[in-house]
Amino acid sequence: MSTQATAVAHPNIALVKYWGKRDLALNLPATSSLSVTLDQFLTRTTVTWGVDQDEVVLDGAQAQGAVAQRVLDFLDLVASDRPPCRVISGSNFPVAAGLASSSSAFAALALAASAAAGRALEPAALSVLARRGSGSACRSLWGGFVHWTRGERSDGLDSHGHPIQIPEPWGLRVVVAVVHAGPKAVGSTQGMVRTRATSPVFPVFVAENEGLVLQAKQAVLARDFDALVGCMERSTTLMHASMLTAVPSVRYLKPGSLAVLDAVDDLRARGVACGWTMDAGPNVKVLCRAADAAEVERSLNGLVRAVNVLGLGGPARLVEAP
Ligand code: PMV
Repeated sequence: MSTQATAVAHPNIALVKYWGKRDLALNLPATSSLSVTLDQFLTRTTVTWGVDQDEVVLDGAQAQGAVAQRVLDFLDLVASDRPPCRVISGSNFPVAAGLASSSSAFAALALAASAAAGRALEPAALSVLARRGSGSACRSLWGGFVHWTRGERSDGLDSHGHPIQIPEPWGLRVVVAVVHAGPKAVGSTQGMVRTRATSPVFPVFVAENEGLVLQAKQAVLARDFDALVGCMERSTTLMHASMLTAVPSVRYLKPGSLAVLDAVDDLRARGVACGWTMDAGPNVKVLCRAADAAEVERSLNGLVRAVNVLGLGGPARLVEAP
């Protein structure tokens, strides 16, 4: 007998960054982080538990090799004695949208797979499970602002997301400036391992980042936009400084990325409240208030390949349960 469940999840963007693992196998982070979950873009995943043979279909094509194996290994975490399973997953945002999809992908997979397997998990346990697939996925279980605590335990059970409850929604936008849409040159795990092992700046990032997470959380609770942007840009700068000073250097930014940073700094000098962040790739995400999003979009339009304006999204959810 087979059982089936379908879940959807949105990608998230870190305002205060996760970079570096204290445990590679468990995806335990060197530092806490803080994110916003995005709206509009989502991954939808159906897991059928108990079929003739394992099958993984991603964005309409049969997944092969290491890509399929990563998904199947993840199902083994849900139940080591599992039957063959089918996973059909698709995202409504193209690679060219300038966002990584692993956060929404593993959040949706954790939710759908555990439900299909008949293992209802509490949100924190689901977040721990999603983290094993991709660190940032542990933050996509919740909407709005999410705090991923580093945790102290060696089994990682205290390293998961926590929603930051605010009395009413904060009308912010994330404007994604797509500088380059190709696959990244260095995968995030490889980049993290190299940075942690060789960069003299990495300990500086780790030492400061934990405090930045707490300051950013206070800024969210106090709706202090400028303080939040200050934490975001500082964490981003220290993360990229640690990447750049790794041996060999891990360099994700392109000249076009720096042009966007200059344009955002110019906007700010003209009185538009906004700030930038970048992840393991050349695209720049600009945080601003809803009322300023059109002006930010206009300023960046001619400068980059595409601009996507996104709001803050909701939690991952089951849309079909056994
Ligand atoms: O979840 P991963 O392994 O793809 O790592 C994501 C790392 C960054 O996006 C660069 C930062 C973050 O906190 O999301």
